Amino acid sequence: MPDIDPWGDIQVGAYKEKMERFGIDAFDDQLDKLPTKNRYMRRDIIYGHRDFGRVADAIANGDDFAMMTGLMPSGKFHFGHKMVADQIKYYQELGADVYVAVADIESYTTRNIPHEKAREIAIDQYLLNYIALGIDPENLTFYFQSDGSTSYHTKSKFFSKNTTQNEIEAIYGDITPGKVTAALTQVADILQPQFEENGGPKPTVVPIGTDQDPHMRFTRDIAARTDVQDFIKPSSTYHKFMRGLQGGKMSSSKEKSYIALSDPIDEAKQKIDQAKTGGKQSLEKHRKQGADVDEDMVYELLAFHLIEDDDRLNRIYREYDSGEMLSGELKQIAKDELETFLQTHQEKREQARDRLDAYRDL
Ligand code: TRP
Repeated sequence: MPDIDPWGDIQVGAYKEKMERFGIDAFDDQLDKLPTKNRYMRRDIIYGHRDFGRVADAIANGDDFAMMTGLMPSGKFHFGHKMVADQIKYYQELGADVYVAVADIESYTTRNIPHEKAREIAIDQYLLNYIALGIDPENLTFYFQSDGSTSYHTKSKFFSKNTTQNEIEAIYGDITPGKVTAALTQVADILQPQFEENGGPKPTVVPIGTDQDPHMRFTRDIAARTDVQDFIKPSSTYHKFMRGLQGGKMSSSKEKSYIALSDPIDEAKQKIDQAKTGGKQSLEKHRKQGADVDEDMVYELLAFHLIEDDDRLNRIYREYDSGEMLSGELKQIAKDELETFLQTHQEKREQARDRLDAYRDL
C-alpha cells in the first residue's frame, strides 16, 4: 500500500518527510512574490507546493488563473473546513476563477453516502458558511459532480485512456473500481477550469491537505499526456491539518474534537475549557519551565483562526512559552475571541440563508 491513502484516515505531521519523499517544494520561497499573504501562508501552515510559481506569476502579471477545490460532504462545518473556505476567499479576492466541486459521486462510490444527503449537507453546511465567511457566490462555480456537464463527464471517461493499471497501483495501491471512478472524476474537476468552454489553459491552484496529493500527481500526469486538449499542469499548495481540541485527529465523528461554526457559543467555550493544553502540572513548574506551546490545542486555534495580528500572536507565544502566561489565561483569550467571531458569523449566516434556494434543485 502506498503511504498516502486519500480515502484513509488523515495523517497529521511528518510534513518534512512527505515533502522529500514525494517531491513537494517548500512554500516559503513563494511568499515574496505574492501581493498579499493570508494567515496560513504567513504562519507556515501552508508549507508546501507543486509548481505554485506559475500561479504567483499570473497573479503578479494580472493574467487569468483559477482556483479549484472539492469537498466531501460530511457532518457539520467546523474550523478544520474553514481553512479551505478562507483560501477560497483569498484567491477570489485576487481575481481567480473559482470552482468548488461537491464530491457527491465520490461520496457515493467510496463512502456509500446517498447523493441527495450529500447535496443537503453541501448546501446547508458548506455553502451557507462560505457565504457568511464572505465568499461571493455570484463569482463562484459551485457544482455537484453528479450534475456536471456532458463535456465534463465525457472527458473524465476519456482520461482513463491516459493512464495504466501500473500507474494506478503505484499511486493508489489496489483500489476498488468505485475509487478509480472517484479518481478520474477528480481529474476532471481539477482540469475543468482549463476546458476550452471555460477559457482554455490557465494556471490553476488546488489548495489541499497532503492526503490529497496522490490525486494531484495523477492529474498532473494525465494533463501532460492527454490529447483531449492542451492543459497546463495544475499546481497545488499543501496545508498542515489542524489537530483536534483534545489532541490527535479532528474528526466529524468526535464531537469534542472540533468546534462547529454553528455551535452555540456556550458549548463552544466549554470545548475550549476541556481542550488539551501545553501547560505544566503545577504552577511552580509552569512558571519555571513555561508551556509546551506547540502541543497546545488552544494556541493552535488562535494561530489558525482567531488571531489575525501577527505581533499579537507572537506576544502570546512568548508569554506562554516563558511561563508568564497561564493556560487559563490563554483559554480566556480564546473564549473571548471565539465569542466575538461566532456571534458575528452566526448573524451573517442567518442573513445568507435566503441565497441558498437557487442551489437546491439545480
Ligand atoms: N477527494 C476530495 C476529498 O476527499 C474531494 C474532491 C473532489 C476534491 N474533487 C476535488 C478536492 C478536486 C480537490 C480538488 O476531500
